[in-house]
Amino acid sequence: MSPLVRFHDQHPVSAGSLHAELLEGLTSTPKYTSPKFFYDRRGSELFDAICEQPEYYPTRTEESILRAAAAEIAEVVGRDATLIELGSGASRKVRLLLEALHPLCYLGVDISRDFLLDCTHRLAVDYPWLEVHAAWADFSRPMSWPDGLTGERPVAFFPGSSIGNFTPEEAENFLGGLTQLLPPGGGLLIGVDLIKDRAILDAAYNDAAGITAAFNLNLLERLRHDFEAEVEPSRFRHRAFYNEVDHRIEMHLVSQCDQSLRLANECIFFDEGESLHTESSYKYSVSGFQDLAERAGFEPRAYWTDCDSLFCIHYLERAP
Ligand code: AVJ
Repeated sequence: MSPLVRFHDQHPVSAGSLHAELLEGLTSTPKYTSPKFFYDRRGSELFDAICEQPEYYPTRTEESILRAAAAEIAEVVGRDATLIELGSGASRKVRLLLEALHPLCYLGVDISRDFLLDCTHRLAVDYPWLEVHAAWADFSRPMSWPDGLTGERPVAFFPGSSIGNFTPEEAENFLGGLTQLLPPGGGLLIGVDLIKDRAILDAAYNDAAGITAAFNLNLLERLRHDFEAEVEPSRFRHRAFYNEVDHRIEMHLVSQCDQSLRLANECIFFDEGESLHTESSYKYSVSGFQDLAERAGFEPRAYWTDCDSLFCIHYLERAP
């Protein structure tokens, strides 16, 4: 553990509850799993590789917005913030902010302990002036900020359109929960993928190199390694498409034959053509997201987009 980082163990996971959650989705009709099951070590590596694909525009675009708007963002957010990154993961994006924003303190929150420790350690090394904390926690569940953070004005940073994995209703609840953790004047800087031409969306989740397909199929590998499931990944196929009615990308694993999957003592049958819904990734218009945020108790303060209107970064403040 890094001597430069203050670590806060908020006990995010118990294997038993993960098992139960998996089983619940796999025995529902239609079958589904939570996207959080993608992210074992291999899954996190594959996600990083997705971000490098020419078709996958969100990462690149969000970074270019951050780079272009850093000074403006710093002006709106102000200089004495306590910056809290939700899902700090590779924490490359926050580096684009740190220099412009010069926060008093940084807290990374992540469910993946190893990733969190690596990333916060590297931040502490590269920014010696910064007080760095790491909280090992599941921020999709009710949480509180750890003790000992310096500063009175927490500003949460939630990049990458991770909010898109929630349904709009869940997203509203999640943002509502965040307003409870923020004092009036506290803020949220959040990256949200925009509604756009479906050809661009379909391509982004069906890259020619097949990395997204490998990422999706890796879920089944993970079920085998970490949950002792009996399942043959080669008998499933990746499928991703934009659902224009619900404004979301859907990712599925489609069974290529009649087959069964074993998990613990349960046997789960798949018909040929039946699909396991592994992820939804919701897209919003600028005003659609602002409306949702307002219903959750935030006031839209500013937003920044790229010139092709692919992606948007919003700054919201907790309503007084
Ligand atoms: C990390 C949820 C933002 O929805 O674009 C990328 C995950 N899935 N390609 C997204 C993902 C397939 C990503 N998020």
